[in-house]
Amino acid sequence: MNRRRRSEELRSHRWLGLDDLRSFGHRSRLRQFGYDAADWAGKPVIGIINTWSEINACHAHLRARAEDVKRGVLQAGGFPIELPAISLAEPFVKPSTMLYRNFLAMETEELLRSHPIDGAVLMGGCDKTTPGLIMGAISMDIPAIYVPAGPMLRGNWRGQFLGSGSDVWKYWTERRAGNISEEDWSEIEGGIARSFGTCMVMGTAATMMAIAEALGLSLAGASSLPAADAGHPRMCSAAGRRIVDMVWEDVTPGRILTAAAFDNAIKVHMAMGGSTNAIIHVIAMGRRAGLPIDVHRFDELSREIPILANVRPSGKYLMEDFFYAGGLRALMLCLREKLDLSCLTVTGKSVGDNIAGATVHLPDVIHSTADPIYPQGATAVLTGNLAPRGCVMKPAAADKRLLRHRGPALVFDDYNQLAREIDRDDLDVTPDHVLVLKNAGPKGGPGMPEWGMLPIPKKLVKAGVRDMLRVSDGRMSGTSYGACILHVAPESFVGGPLALVRNGDEIEVDVAARRIHLHVGEEELARRRAAWQPPEPRYGRGYGAMFSAHVGQADEGCDFDFLNRGAAIPEPEIH
Ligand code: FES
Repeated sequence: MNRRRRSEELRSHRWLGLDDLRSFGHRSRLRQFGYDAADWAGKPVIGIINTWSEINACHAHLRARAEDVKRGVLQAGGFPIELPAISLAEPFVKPSTMLYRNFLAMETEELLRSHPIDGAVLMGGCDKTTPGLIMGAISMDIPAIYVPAGPMLRGNWRGQFLGSGSDVWKYWTERRAGNISEEDWSEIEGGIARSFGTCMVMGTAATMMAIAEALGLSLAGASSLPAADAGHPRMCSAAGRRIVDMVWEDVTPGRILTAAAFDNAIKVHMAMGGSTNAIIHVIAMGRRAGLPIDVHRFDELSREIPILANVRPSGKYLMEDFFYAGGLRALMLCLREKLDLSCLTVTGKSVGDNIAGATVHLPDVIHSTADPIYPQGATAVLTGNLAPRGCVMKPAAADKRLLRHRGPALVFDDYNQLAREIDRDDLDVTPDHVLVLKNAGPKGGPGMPEWGMLPIPKKLVKAGVRDMLRVSDGRMSGTSYGACILHVAPESFVGGPLALVRNGDEIEVDVAARRIHLHVGEEELARRRAAWQPPEPRYGRGYGAMFSAHVGQADEGCDFDFLNRGAAIPEPEIH
């Protein structure tokens, strides 16, 4: 461990500790709040970046939890300051929260840089908030601890547990098939989200909260704590205490985030049966940390790591059960022989220290490597002439017959066309067709919306079909399931091969061989490529125009090109 820093070495000292005109101004404005020198003098200033808002039910408790963090900061001799940041409520933000992940990352970085902040507590959990907060903190590289919002309670409908998203898709399909009534549907609407907290299946939120912990960025066990559990505010105050010491010890993300830490996180992602979205976020976080993680690294590790968490959508239970079963520490204990236990974490201790003493209490929820849920990890990365820079799939969540399949394409040029046509009774489609959606990528969506779980055509749903092969350059919700091939790179909007697919073209997928192939001759493809016209940009001005000009493709983590490269930014001048 480094020597403890002196108070004169803190960033905030430049704002608050000098005998000059500007420092006078800063201090007088703190006094305007009713603070006095005893509140700040010689103390680390802790910025609490809070993504609470009145439209984000996943973060509804973070307003109160920030007070628990402050309690911990004060106990440890720090000076807490809460700074609000964009909330990115997954259900409400359109066209997609992914359009704004980099916005939150920029906001986090600049909030920390421009204010007298020595250490950060990052409060989030709803899908993009976790990577957005962490990407910003990595780039700023001051001590930071991530506080996960935690999953909401299990949903309930007539005594059955309901899972966020997963059961919505399931019962929506049954409703379209005419198997459940309007009254049933309304009851499900009232029972599926019963408390504050994030989605409680192994969706993107639960996956990213676990990945943050596996990277070493949150307290041990924090990511599994249900939002409504009394342990959650206790964890928040513990994080407040710990960040103060992290500042004195100078434990920065740069010291924690090594290649081995990212491998640990990817292995945990695989063992959790986590969301495909995490691939994009992990690549983006890795690049911010100076570690160029290749999308194929996920496939390599997927082949050696089995799925151990029996949680929907790949498994049976929900995150509340996962907590009762021992949580992430227990899962990481089962995986210990595959992990680098020496990696440093925000606790100041190693991963091995953090998981010591963990126990699996419910072996059907957290399985052992000798008795896995699925023999390989969450994700397969396929390549071929349809996706030269890769695409991803979640084999455990797909109908097994579709893991090796060849069929004719049924192509939708955009989501509006799909929405107009998918339920037509005269749609020319069979269960062997491969549904293709274009223009759902980072620039084309725009913002790479979660459209990748294309709905099964209504006439096939009525005939009992529940899964089909589907290909797109979009993402899918981590709560989704089915034989959906996603993140096709490069995307169709920029002229990737997906743009060239036409109705009736044969598409072949062989997941075991990690291959996807469009059976159209090279000459014909060249003709189509020559005739392809780039679409008009989606935005003429504003943030969207900046997003479209600078966002990378899925295999690059969809970060802005100017954020994941370049020289370090100097500390702000104070004049
Ligand atoms: Fe917020 Fe799912 S909607 S985590």
